Amino acid sequence: MTRPTDVPLRADLDRLMGRLAQLADVGRDPHGGTTRLALSDADRAGRDLVVGWMHDAGLDVTVDEVGNVVGIRPGRIDGPVVMTGSHIDTVRRAGAYDGNLGVLAGIELVERLDEERITTERPIAVAFFTNEEGARFQPDMLGSLAYVGGIDVREALDAPSIDGQRLGDELARIGYAGPHPCPGSAPAAFVELHIEQGPVLERAAVPIGVVTGVQAISWQQVTYTGRARHAGTTPMELRNDAGRAAIDAAHRVHEIAHEVGAPLVATIGSLRLEPDLVNVVPGRASFTVDVRHIDDAVLDAVDGRIADAAQLVAREHGVDLDRRRLARFAAVPFDPRIRSLIEDAARRLGLATTQLVSGAGHDAQMLARVCPTGMVFVPSTGGISHHPDEHTDTDAIAAGFAVLADVVRRLAGDEERA
Ligand code: GLV
Ligand code: MN
Ligand code: MN
Repeated sequence: MTRPTDVPLRADLDRLMGRLAQLADVGRDPHGGTTRLALSDADRAGRDLVVGWMHDAGLDVTVDEVGNVVGIRPGRIDGPVVMTGSHIDTVRRAGAYDGNLGVLAGIELVERLDEERITTERPIAVAFFTNEEGARFQPDMLGSLAYVGGIDVREALDAPSIDGQRLGDELARIGYAGPHPCPGSAPAAFVELHIEQGPVLERAAVPIGVVTGVQAISWQQVTYTGRARHAGTTPMELRNDAGRAAIDAAHRVHEIAHEVGAPLVATIGSLRLEPDLVNVVPGRASFTVDVRHIDDAVLDAVDGRIADAAQLVAREHGVDLDRRRLARFAAVPFDPRIRSLIEDAARRLGLATTQLVSGAGHDAQMLARVCPTGMVFVPSTGGISHHPDEHTDTDAIAAGFAVLADVVRRLAGDEERA
């Protein structure tokens, strides 16, 4: 008799694609795409919708102290779960797939196992983690970081938002300050399905990416304080222009990135001038720097050069400098055994694979601290992500789901139909 593991488990694509579309409608942004910043009203509505689907799928759902949501399908034995999942918070004007795919595919997987009456030795858990994006609160991947004990829960709850709120207060306000203890129990393994968010798979015309690891990430905020003055009456040489300092320093960051060259990437994603008016010399100016590289030593050296340049600019313009670290995560390699399981699954399903490093941060990189972890990527059309045009073909989602299902079933030890 064939074991179900040899029969691929296929998604009910109408259900999965329908849910992706329904979730994308929560937090529709009038400027395009979807905006569900972490712990906003839209995030609450998205969470409520997804938790409802988790309950419909028969999962035993818990919410922990930092708002991470975990739904468990029992196995034949108790003990560590095989976990899958991702996040449902978004950047501003996001697409429909980043994070959402991994969570909804996890729920779909549980429902398909139930429909096929497949049981597993180990329990299977589907999780979504708080504030993966880091767009509203820093650091990014804060929920999964807390889940693995990488940040003290009190520190996580005290994280300030870009709009001046405290994470713990926002969590309580939206009703997701859960009772479950954080850090959570270490899973037996963690596998995350995610869109690539870059152009590699599409260019190679390969449907499945086997992620070897995640590149190192450095985020900081540079703030200059000078003196706000009248823009018409204050001679140039008598100014302490915080805005000019910020613009010069931001320009230096891009120059350094060009000097170091690929694969280094550097982004000034937020630039704020105060009081932000046409006829006032800015008294305060701040910008964020996101720098990433596969080699931690290169990233540290670049951070050092940026620090020196920012200091030099402060002296040139007679302004005060404050640099604040928002996040620094080392490069993370994924587990070789899980990588092989992904490759084997794809081979059995007749799907070509290529190995690649993730340019984006993911919850999986935090889970990798406590359990064997891997990621499956599916292609992003045009390599576009963090944008309303983010798209992944339904066929690619079907392929990614089938690989995820195979790997999770093998890790969980599935068995013949009851
Ligand atoms: C998170 O998604 C990031 O890589 O910025
Ligand atoms: Mn993501
Ligand atoms: Mn993202």
